Amino acid sequence: MTLYAHVVGWGKYVPRHVLTNDELARTVDTTDEWIRERTGIGQRHLAEDDETTASMAIQAARQALDVARLNPARLDLIIVATATPDHVFPATACLIQDALGASHAAAFDLSAGCSGFVYGLSVAANLLTAGAYQTALVIGAETLSRIVNWTDRNTCVLFGDGAGAVILQVGENEGGVLASVLGADGSGGDLLRLPAGGSKIPTSHRSVTDGLHFIEMEGRQVFRFAVRTMPAATREVLAKVGLSPTDLDLLIPHQANQRIIEAAAKSLELSAETVYSNLERHGNTSAASIPIALCEAVEEGRIQPGNLVVAVGFGAGLTWGAAAIRWTRPLPAPLPRWQQFLRRLRYFLARFRSRVRRVRRRLSAHWVRDDLNGREKDV
Ligand code: UT7
Repeated sequence: MTLYAHVVGWGKYVPRHVLTNDELARTVDTTDEWIRERTGIGQRHLAEDDETTASMAIQAARQALDVARLNPARLDLIIVATATPDHVFPATACLIQDALGASHAAAFDLSAGCSGFVYGLSVAANLLTAGAYQTALVIGAETLSRIVNWTDRNTCVLFGDGAGAVILQVGENEGGVLASVLGADGSGGDLLRLPAGGSKIPTSHRSVTDGLHFIEMEGRQVFRFAVRTMPAATREVLAKVGLSPTDLDLLIPHQANQRIIEAAAKSLELSAETVYSNLERHGNTSAASIPIALCEAVEEGRIQPGNLVVAVGFGAGLTWGAAAIRWTRPLPAPLPRWQQFLRRLRYFLARFRSRVRRVRRRLSAHWVRDDLNGREKDV
């Protein structure tokens, strides 16, 4: 029996705080005109002080669960693609698992730069279609504003914060994630990186004063890589299922630069209507860009059941990836009031259960210590 991994839920979250190009131009040597002309970006959303990658991802995940009408306890797997986790460890995916009360889910983070969401989608879809799991939550979430050097005009104009999520569920009907292709070329790792904070350059007074905790990028080289890779990956994933760019209803490219998106569209001979872009409103949100775009495209009615969609990304690593999806779900009706109440209750209980577990763990550690001390005395 052939199994398929269907997209049954989707959600997004972007912080309320908006930073426009004009506002940015007051603090760095740039202009709204330059940013729009060279990138297509008009504004970006930035996390408030109390927001993190996990907190934004939780909001996106809750929305996706609502759309799927799914109890988080039924999730088997949570994958979070991010370059800006809350901590090096524990995984941000585990923080999300706890907050959602997804008590039966395995959870891990995935690092593949801006291609991370497509990597996550591919891993989850393959695990589902292999029969390993029934339901997976795949999230792309970033708080890039925390690693952007706000005095470097080459990078700070590009990035924004946000999160997007999808729920994949296994089914026997044909459709869902039909195929994916992933790739990497580590020889380009130095073109886009965060130099310090890992085992090579651990955080130190020196690493901070040398400014090594900010994004470093050779923009022009990454640009060239993207223009080459995006159309090639799109063609490859379509060919895998015997289709071609002419069969596409919508291309969801990683939102990095409007000129890259247009070059990809031109190479694939796609009309502007067949290519989704929200760069003007969000800037580049790295691993979050594709799921946010996917979610907005569905909400705007640009993706309908039966449509063929390709999500294609590129990013740090260097990495790239594309996934071909046959959409099977219509937009659901808004959640009825009683279900909204149930949802709030469920997340309240998840918080409560998490606290109880922490207390129980502390107490049991205490008892074990007392027990061991007692035994030592006996000896
Ligand atoms: O998600 C993956 C992450 N990254 C990317 O996808 C980035 C891919 N690359 C790009 O999008 C583009 O290369 C950039 C938008 C980063 C840069 O655009 P560009 O057309 O490649 O500009 P450039 O780097 O060749 O710079 C052209 C000029 C330079 O001045 P000079 O040396 O010609 O005098 C820059 O100093 O533009 C200058 N410049 C700026 N001017 C005003 C660079 N950034 C700015 C700025 N405002 N923000």
